[in-house]
Amino acid sequence: MNSNLFEIEDLRASGDGTEILKGLNLTVNEGELHVIMGPNGSGKTTLASTLMASPSYVVSKGRVRLRGEDVTDWPTDVRAKAGIFLAFQYPEEISGVSVIQFLRQAMSARKGTEVSALEVRFSLMEWMDRLGMDPSFAQRHLNQGFSGGEKKRNEILQMALLEPEVAILDETDSGLDIDALNVVARGIEEVRKQKPTIGIVLVTHYQRILDLLSVDKVHIMIDGRIVETGGPELSQVLEAEGYGKWKI
Ligand SMILES: Nc1ncnc2c1ncn2[C@@H]1O[C@H](COP(=O)(O)OP(=O)(O)OP(=O)(O)O)[C@@H](O)[C@H]1O
Ligand SMILES: [Mg+2]
Repeated sequence: MNSNLFEIEDLRASGDGTEILKGLNLTVNEGELHVIMGPNGSGKTTLASTLMASPSYVVSKGRVRLRGEDVTDWPTDVRAKAGIFLAFQYPEEISGVSVIQFLRQAMSARKGTEVSALEVRFSLMEWMDRLGMDPSFAQRHLNQGFSGGEKKRNEILQMALLEPEVAILDETDSGLDIDALNVVARGIEEVRKQKPTIGIVLVTHYQRILDLLSVDKVHIMIDGRIVETGGPELSQVLEAEGYGKWKI
């Protein structure tokens, strides 16, 4: 087994002709949870989008590897099937599609075979119970009247059901009330228990979710690069002092 689960090597990427990622390196080993913190505009969402092969960004240099396999040129659907997961934040309402229907499609794509509605319903109920979510959630239609917190919980459900190799969670904790934050943090730890090899990259602005998680590494991202890596204590330094000393 390759313990180097996910490697990003000297990644450079541009959007609209402007370079945003400027030589980014990050290696996530099996079972690790990495946190990326960085000021607004440092390129965190660009990194998440680029790792999922968003057409908005052009990679000019560097490699991305999943279990040693070079995925840099793979399109989004192939990456998703291989087990790279980016919490899908539904910018628009997808009317008429229920949570169950959406998950059925995503699980079938991930497994490469048709997953039955019953199977999806069964896993969904089990996970909602595990995460302390209201069962009526499964019947709801995507984004129709979902609050911000409900969308975030839905992302954790997706991650639990899709069992990715590596999950990128971009600001999954933003705008959450205390209860929802606990659900999300517990969800992340439950998914790790279920699949101990999963690698997670969590982008956040807040130290508080780190207190609820068992974090391996904290990275500071400034201007398209990781400029410092440490343990959870690094987030406390940030909370107290801000990004001043790392900004150029
Ligand atoms: N498609 C694009 N074309 C041109 N510039 C872009 C594009 N996407 C992002 N940018 C710019 O790249 C920079 C990084 O944006 P990004 O959204 O990755 O930052 P971020 O670290 O996620 O910030 P935040 O903490 O506010 O979420 C910003 O200056 C942004 O305006
Ligand atoms: Mg962002």
